[in-house]
Amino acid sequence: MDLIRRLGAVVGPEHVLTDPAVTVSYAVDWTGRFRGSAAAVVRPRSTEEVAGVLAVCNEAEAAVVPQGGNTGLVGGGVPLAGEIVLSLRRLDEIGPVDTLAGQVTAGAGVTLAGLQARAAAAGWAFGVDLAARDSATVGGMVATNAGGNRMMRYGPMRAQVLGVEAVLADGRVVSHLGGLAKDNTGYDLAGLVTGSEGTLAVVTRVRLRLVPRFEHRVVALLAVGSVATAVEATTSLRREVPSLEAAELFLAEGLALVCRVFGLPRPFAAEHAAYLLVECADHRDPEPELARAVGRLGPLVLDAAVATEPARRAALWRYREAHTEAIATLGVAHKLDVALAPGSLPAFVAEVPAVVARAAPGATTFLFGHVGDGNVHVNVVGAGDGDEVDAAVLGLVADMGGSISAEHGIGRAKRRWLHLNRSPVEIDVFAAIKRALDPRGILNPGVLLPPR
Ligand code: MLT
Ligand code: ZN
Repeated sequence: MDLIRRLGAVVGPEHVLTDPAVTVSYAVDWTGRFRGSAAAVVRPRSTEEVAGVLAVCNEAEAAVVPQGGNTGLVGGGVPLAGEIVLSLRRLDEIGPVDTLAGQVTAGAGVTLAGLQARAAAAGWAFGVDLAARDSATVGGMVATNAGGNRMMRYGPMRAQVLGVEAVLADGRVVSHLGGLAKDNTGYDLAGLVTGSEGTLAVVTRVRLRLVPRFEHRVVALLAVGSVATAVEATTSLRREVPSLEAAELFLAEGLALVCRVFGLPRPFAAEHAAYLLVECADHRDPEPELARAVGRLGPLVLDAAVATEPARRAALWRYREAHTEAIATLGVAHKLDVALAPGSLPAFVAEVPAVVARAAPGATTFLFGHVGDGNVHVNVVGAGDGDEVDAAVLGLVADMGGSISAEHGIGRAKRRWLHLNRSPVEIDVFAAIKRALDPRGILNPGVLLPPR
């Protein structure tokens, strides 16, 4: 086919994959819920090659799905109808760390773990961390404005992005990687493409800010009697412990599943309704200030486990981070990543089981997430192929003034419900921006924007 030949002329024929036995792995998302087919997988090595690929696809009006580590959870990075997959994995160069500015430029295909290692080697750290760190890529994290575990201290990916190099649908390149702290020179194109889920441009390189690398860390797992107590405790710790970096919530059912699937010892003799995992980090030992603040919570805390050395800290984190993998062993999960105001979280969590039972009788629900950000991950297994449970849970979130997507993005999974959070005028503006930057609509056409 002429398109395949022309793509081969840009990246080399060996980097245009067409064998279905090979391309199939690029056409199913991490959850297994979104499966499709790719006309081809193209693997450029540089911004220039990405530009050549998009120019060819734009001329041919061939739809393109940009893909990083394929760790997305809303079907935003997989082809469902024979699109061209543009894999960014080979753009994996990391520039030198600017140790004076505390910045680095990373290729879109750099993994989060690779970036974290480079920053640490230079005496810095990176402000976003998430469980999929070994496979999630910088480009995909920018495209979805990833949140992760440290958002309450450093913000989402958007807060780390100082500039981007990106390729427009027609192959033109925009590049603004200077990283100047103050640079008020026109529209914030970096901010616009961050969170645009590959629908406005393909990010190829990113200028990122780094954060201080703290030598002292402490993790505490607190058993509490309710979600309301976990929320109250999080607010207290946030107010009293400046070194607080993470506050995560999970419930008895999720802990039982994780311990069963992975053969982990239970953290406490008794079972409790809810668990709050917190981490503090500082240049001096933060354990005393955390201990004092936890002490002031008094009887709200039913039991506690504290760890300072790395292996034990990781063991406590595993109870939280292993939720996603453990749930995936039960089957395909409908992953409804939502955010609510702290005051609404307990009522929402209390309401979800009944809402799910009505929409998907017999389904199993797990609730966990980043309580410090008001972010709950509602994972429903056994809900079948329909989206009744999605409609019911997202409708409840909207009724409670929450967001139907806290950190995973809209993707394909939630585009039908974007109107629950965005007005017709806002969606019209989104469409106008999309038409301006991608007039032929080749970039991730089935993602984010609702069907017209
Ligand atoms: C997590 O925080 O573990 C993921 O973002 C949530 C999920 O896998 O649903
Ligand atoms: Zn999450």
